[in-house]
Amino acid sequence: MKERLAAFQEDHQRHIRELSEEVRKLGGTPEEYSKDFKGYLIEGFTSLRSITGTDGALKAMEQNEVLTNKKYSDACNWDLPVSVKPLIEKAAADEEMHLQFIRETLKSR
Ligand SMILES: [Fe+2]
Repeated sequence: MKERLAAFQEDHQRHIRELSEEVRKLGGTPEEYSKDFKGYLIEGFTSLRSITGTDGALKAMEQNEVLTNKKYSDACNWDLPVSVKPLIEKAAADEEMHLQFIRETLKSR
């Protein structure tokens, strides 16, 4: 499970990297990101698990993924430059997969 969550975090980092690059190409300035996402996720999960147990931590992550899914799903309907739209759609598909994995993991426990 830890490997899958780390892979999801790499997806999140890639989404930010790719979208930030597009913002720059289009003449904008992407928001700065200083946090170490990978550390943040794994540490966050570990500390949540110590308080709420693995299921509680997974449920918290499920809620985060629900939010991310909603944001990307909304963004898919925006009028976006052609260079950005495929990135948003791919990110939305990744986020759907994250949510599905977490839900299936919760169901199987
Ligand atoms: Fe995700």
